[in-house]
Amino acid sequence: MKSLEKMVIYQIYPKSFQDSNDDGIGDIRGIIQHIDYFVELGIDMIWMNPIFVSPQKDNGYDITHYTKIDPIFGTMEDLEELIEKLEIHDIGLMFDMVFNHSSTTHPWFQQALAGNKKYEDFYIIRPPKDSGDLPTNWASKFGGPAWAPFGDSGKYYLHLYDPSQADLNWRNENMRNELYDIVDFWMDKGIKGFRFDVLNVIGKDEILVDSTGSIDQEKSLYTDTPVVHDYIREMNRKTFGHREITTVGEMSSTNIQNSIEYTKKENDQLDMIFSFHHLKVDYKDGDKWTLMDFDFLKLKEILFQWQLGMEKGNGWMALFWNNHDQPRSNHRFGDTKNYPYEVATMLAHCLHMMRGTPYIYQGEEFGMVGPHFKTITDYRDVESKNAYERLIKDHRHEEAMAIIAAKSRDDSRTPMQWDHGEKYYGFSKEKPWIMPADDGISLKRDRKNKNSIFQFYKDLIAIRKSEPIIQSGKIKPILVDHPRIFGYIRSNGEDEIIVLNNFYPEPVEIQWDLPSDEKIIGNGPLKKLTDTICLEPYECGSWKI
Ligand code: GLC
Ligand code: CA
Repeated sequence: MKSLEKMVIYQIYPKSFQDSNDDGIGDIRGIIQHIDYFVELGIDMIWMNPIFVSPQKDNGYDITHYTKIDPIFGTMEDLEELIEKLEIHDIGLMFDMVFNHSSTTHPWFQQALAGNKKYEDFYIIRPPKDSGDLPTNWASKFGGPAWAPFGDSGKYYLHLYDPSQADLNWRNENMRNELYDIVDFWMDKGIKGFRFDVLNVIGKDEILVDSTGSIDQEKSLYTDTPVVHDYIREMNRKTFGHREITTVGEMSSTNIQNSIEYTKKENDQLDMIFSFHHLKVDYKDGDKWTLMDFDFLKLKEILFQWQLGMEKGNGWMALFWNNHDQPRSNHRFGDTKNYPYEVATMLAHCLHMMRGTPYIYQGEEFGMVGPHFKTITDYRDVESKNAYERLIKDHRHEEAMAIIAAKSRDDSRTPMQWDHGEKYYGFSKEKPWIMPADDGISLKRDRKNKNSIFQFYKDLIAIRKSEPIIQSGKIKPILVDHPRIFGYIRSNGEDEIIVLNNFYPEPVEIQWDLPSDEKIIGNGPLKKLTDTICLEPYECGSWKI
C-alpha cells in the first residue's frame, strides 16, 4: 500500500463532476472521461460521495440500498470499468459509507415499520416520555427535533439528521454484521478506500437522556462515546483490517485525544480522521448561519493545536479546506476578486506542506468560487432550505440570502467548470440539476494563464511525493501571534523547510534571516532584504534552510 504520508486524495462530487448522457446529472461514465486529468494532477486516490440507490433527500447520504448503484449515476458495469481504468494508473477508489443512518426507504426500515421486530431493533426506536413528550429533547443537526413518529405505533425513531435518515442501532450485533458484509462486498469489487460518514456518533447508549445544557453538552451525549472505538476496531478486524485499504472517519465535533485513539496504528481503527474545528472560525457565537470575518488567530491556533497534538500522540489527520459540506475556502478566507490566483495557491500551499494527508475537492485545483445565488429556489440542499426558513423569520430577504450564499453547502456542489466557452461549462449539454456559478472561471482558462492554479497544485503534489520532510517531518509553528502570517517549520533532524503564508491583501515585512535562497515552491516574487522578508499580498513560499 502507498504510505499515507505520500498520498494525496481527490474528492469527486459525482452529481456535479461530468454528465455523460445529458440528463443534467453527473455520472460514473462522466468520471471515466477524465482519467487522464487525474493522472496529470498526480493524485493517488479518489473519494466519491455516495452513488448508491437513494431518494436523494440528502444527496445520496440517505441510502436505500448499500450495494446497488443508483441508476442516475450509471450501472455496476460502469463502476467496474472505472475501477479497472483507475487501477491501470495506480489510482484507488474510495467509497463513502453512510453507516450512522439509512434512508427510511431502506428495506430494513420498511420491514420494521411493517412490524418485524428483528428489523425494529436495527433502529433506535423509543416510546414517548410519560408526559407524552418526545423520548429526549435532542435537536436534529438539520433543524427541528431529532425524533419522528414511527408509523402509527405511537413510538418515535431517532434521526440526528433529516427525518428521512433514521439512525441505525449499532448495539445490535446482527445490524453491525450486515454493515460489515457491505464493506466486504465493496472490497471484493476492488474498492481501495472507505470514508465513513459521521462515524463518531454511532455509539448511542441504550438509555437516552435529555440534554440539560448547551448544544455541546447535548452532542457529548452521543458523540465520541467509548464504545465508538470498540465498534470501529471490530469493523477493522472483521473487514478492511486484513487488506490494503485506506480509511478515513468523518468525525463530528471530535477532539484531539479521541482522534489520536481513532488513528494510532496499534489501535487497529482507522488511518486518519476529518476534524472540522478549523472551519468554524467564521461562526458568530458558534452559529454557522451568521456572517462574520474569519478569526485568523483562532484558525492558526486550532490548526497548530491539532498538528502538534496529533504528532505527539502518533495520530494522523486528513488536511482539507474544502468538501461538499463547506462553502469554498478561497472566498471564505481571501479576496478572490482581486487575488484569485494568489489566494487559491496560498491556501493550498499552507495546507499541503503540513503533516497529514491532503484532500483536494473538485474545482479547488483551478480556483472555483461558488455561485452566490440570489433566490432560495436556486438552492437544492435540504440544510440550506431549512436554514432559510428560520432566517427569514427575523431577517430581510437580502440579508438571509447573503448568509445562505456565504454558508450553504451548495456553494461547493455546483457543476465543475471545465470550459467557460461551453454552455454549462462543458459539464452537460442540458440544464444541470443545480446551476453553475456565473463567473467565467474555468479549468481551460486557468490552464492558459501564466500563473496557473492547476499547475501550482501539480507542483504541490509532486513535492509531497519527493520530499521526505513534508511527508514525515516534525512541525514547529513560528510567528504564532503574527496577525497576518501563517508560518511553520518542518524538520527531520537534519534539514528544515520554512513555510510562510501571507493571509492578507496587504504586503507584510517580517524580521527573519532566511539563510538560503533555495525556494521549493511559492506563488510570488519574494523580496528579501538583508534580514527582512517582504511578502506580497497573499504571497506564500517554502524554502530549505
Ligand atoms: C456528513 C456528510 C453530509 C451529510 C451528513 C449526513 O456530514 O458529509 O453531506 O449530510 O453526513 O449523512
Ligand atoms: Ca447523467
